[in-house]
Amino acid sequence: MKLLSVVGARPNFVKIAPILRALDAARQGRAITSVLVHTGQHYDSQMSADFFSELEIPPPSHTLDVGSGSHAVQTAEIMRRFEPVVCEERPDAVLVVGDVNSTLACALTAAKLRVPVAHIEAGLRSFDRRMPEEINRLLTDTISDLLFTSEESANENLRREGHAAGQICFVGSLMVDALRVYRPLAARSTIRDRLGLTATDDYALLTIHRESNVDVAATLTQLLSALADLARELPVIFPAHPRTRARIEAFGLGRFVERRSRDGTAAARGRLTMIDPLGYGDCVRLMSGAQVVFTDSGGMQEETTGLAVPCLTLRDTTERPVTLTGGTSVLVGNDPERIRAAARSALCSGRPPATLPPLWDGHAAERVVQTLLQWL
Ligand code: UD1
Repeated sequence: MKLLSVVGARPNFVKIAPILRALDAARQGRAITSVLVHTGQHYDSQMSADFFSELEIPPPSHTLDVGSGSHAVQTAEIMRRFEPVVCEERPDAVLVVGDVNSTLACALTAAKLRVPVAHIEAGLRSFDRRMPEEINRLLTDTISDLLFTSEESANENLRREGHAAGQICFVGSLMVDALRVYRPLAARSTIRDRLGLTATDDYALLTIHRESNVDVAATLTQLLSALADLARELPVIFPAHPRTRARIEAFGLGRFVERRSRDGTAAARGRLTMIDPLGYGDCVRLMSGAQVVFTDSGGMQEETTGLAVPCLTLRDTTERPVTLTGGTSVLVGNDPERIRAAARSALCSGRPPATLPPLWDGHAAERVVQTLLQWL
């Protein structure tokens, strides 16, 4: 049996790592070949190679080196380069994860070559088709044969869209698996010391990278201005995605942030402290100790729920509603007043109770692998 798994962007690495581990553990002498393909959608070492070494992901068998481009160019280029790999490897199934351009491009390529496709994180819907990820989710699910879901809303969405019950497999959150598997990495992280934060220092963590938040100057300005205000009272640590950094420079918004190294310069007190993107262990360490996390990342909505840390989600919609109803996330959009009010309220109420949504027990990857083995 040969399983070809695809990764392309940072959140994919975190989800595929527990699956590849579970696949290794399930082998037990069986002839299971695992082929990993990296499309190269993310290519900076801090966005890609560092995750491979930290999460001990085996080096990819094929690297497509597609790099950046418009949505059409990136998607088309991945398809063009992935097709010969599928023809050469002739896998029994292709496994794609999440909702990035690599997910859709590789699912579409495999489906047209009549190779069965399994999609991890199927069925999530924000119902906002202005998000490129929503288009990727809808189309990937339409052409996938096996749909692994992380929450009940996804099962409902897929049933409503007409998918057969036998295609849908509710496995839980792989981000929560990663938190469990890689707990020692976070425990060993020295990021707080490197940023000069003592064990008792309160701080907030901020990440933003969505097109809707960073690609329009007025929106990015109001977000940074609100967070810079908050930073006067509470240090705000801001590991910035390369896309976000580029926009801050292009829009001339450097006045809102204080640039620091993530490796040994103290956070700027009273200022929004912008650092390079973090590795996994450092990021989980900072998340788990934060008074509040501000983010537009889908994965961090799941992780903060897993860690029982208050999360103010800088979006108007979420494809992960269980993080609102059964988790720690609150949607606050990008309106500065709403953000300030929500931040005050989150800081007053402290840590929410640590209840977890169904099947967010750290064993989703094992369920994925067992199902895949039976299916194939
Ligand atoms: C992509 C995903 C998004 C996911 C995010 C996680 C799509 C449509 N979007 O967004 O869903 O939440 O990854 O990070 O697939 N860049 C670099 N170095 C890199 C990668 C990107 O400098 O290693 C810069 C480039 O200027 C590039 C820009 O970031 O043009 C955007 O990268 P891209 O992969 O197109 O989308 P993301 O914003 O990373």
